[in-house]
Amino acid sequence: MTANKRLLVLPGDGIGPEVMGEVRRVIEWMDRRRHVSFALEEGLVGGAAIDATGHPCPDKTVERAMACDAVLFGSVGGPKWDGLPFEQRPELGILRLRKDLGLFANLRPAIVLDPLVDASSLKKEVVQGLDIMIVRESTGGIYFGEPRGLDTTPAGLRRAFDTESYNENEIARVARVAFELARKRPGKKVTSVEKANVMQSGRFWRQIVGEVHKAEFPDVTLENMYADNCAMQLCMRPKQFDVILASNLFGDLLSDLAAAATGSLGMLPSATLGAPDESGRRNALYEPIHGSAPDIAGKGIANPCAQILSFAMLLRWSFGMEEDAQLLEQAVKKTLAGGLRTADIMQPGAARVGTGVMGEAIVRELDKLAA
Ligand code: IPM
Ligand code: MN
Repeated sequence: MTANKRLLVLPGDGIGPEVMGEVRRVIEWMDRRRHVSFALEEGLVGGAAIDATGHPCPDKTVERAMACDAVLFGSVGGPKWDGLPFEQRPELGILRLRKDLGLFANLRPAIVLDPLVDASSLKKEVVQGLDIMIVRESTGGIYFGEPRGLDTTPAGLRRAFDTESYNENEIARVARVAFELARKRPGKKVTSVEKANVMQSGRFWRQIVGEVHKAEFPDVTLENMYADNCAMQLCMRPKQFDVILASNLFGDLLSDLAAAATGSLGMLPSATLGAPDESGRRNALYEPIHGSAPDIAGKGIANPCAQILSFAMLLRWSFGMEEDAQLLEQAVKKTLAGGLRTADIMQPGAARVGTGVMGEAIVRELDKLAA
C-alpha cells in the first residue's frame, strides 16, 4: 500500500534518538498489522543540528516540517551546548518550529495511570484517576514578545527585559481550542489562568476568554483563576481541574507542575497544533514532555512511553485515527499493568527493564489487543 502519510521525525539530542527508535517499532507494527503506511523522513534539530550545520533549526528542517503532515519531535539540549551564545541554544530549535509552523496550541495532558498511582509524591487519594488537559499558548507572550534585550539604564546599571504581549486573536484562537476540547470531555470545564490582579495582559486575557465563552461556548463551564493560586491548587486538589488554559509562560510552569504531580514525567506526551485550513489539515508537532535527560542518554534505560504516547496523539490529532490511538494507549497501559517498569517509574516488586524491552513489550501487547 502506498504511504500517504508523511511524517518528519526529529530525534534531536540526549535520549531523543533512543526513545524514537521504539516508535519506529510501533510504526512498523502498524504497517504490518493495521495496513497503515507512513513515509518517514528524518531531520536535524537542536544540538545535533548545531553540530552538523551550525544552527539549532536549519531552514531545511522548517521547510520539510511544512511539507509533511506531522512532525514527531524527540528532545533537544545538553551540557555540550550549554556554553553557546543565547541565539544559538538548542532550545531555539523547538521555539522556531512552533513559531514558523504557527503551532499556537500546546496540549499537555497530565494523567495518572492506575498502575502508576504510587509514583506520585502526592497522596494516592489526591491523584488517583487524575486526568487534566493543559492548553498552553505557544507562539506568543513573553517568550516571543518585543522589545526584548539587554541595555544600560541612565544611571549606568546593566538591565535585561522581555515583553509579555497578546493581541485578542492570539488569545481567542487558543481559548477556542480549550473550549472545544472541554466540550468533548465529561467535565466540560475550562479553568483559564492569568494574573489579572497585577498584569494588564492578564486582565485582557480574562476579558477575551470571557467574550469567546459567552459568544460561542455557553455550554462549557468557565472558571477564572490566578496562576499562582492554580499552582497551589494543582498540588492540593488537582482533580478539581478538567482543562486548564494558560499563556505561554504560565502554561510552561503549570504543565511541569502538573506533570510532576502525576509522578511520571517519562510517561507524558504532548501535541502542538496550528490552525486548520479549509480542508481541515493543520500543522502539528508531537513531543514528549520530558527533556533530553543527558544524564541517562546512551544507556538504554530511558522510558520510551512518552514518545510512543506522543505518536498516539499524532494518530488522533493529525490523522483522525482514534481507534489506533486508543489501541496504542491501551497497549502501554497493559504493559505497565503487567509489571514492567523503566528506571524512572520503578516500584518495589516490579520488573526493571530498559528502553528496548519496554518497546518490545508494548508491541507484543499491540499484537494481543489486535488479535
Ligand atoms: C517546554 C520547554 C521549552 C519551552 C524549552 C525547551 C524552549 O521547556 O517545551 O516546555 O520553554 O517551551
Ligand atoms: Mn517547559
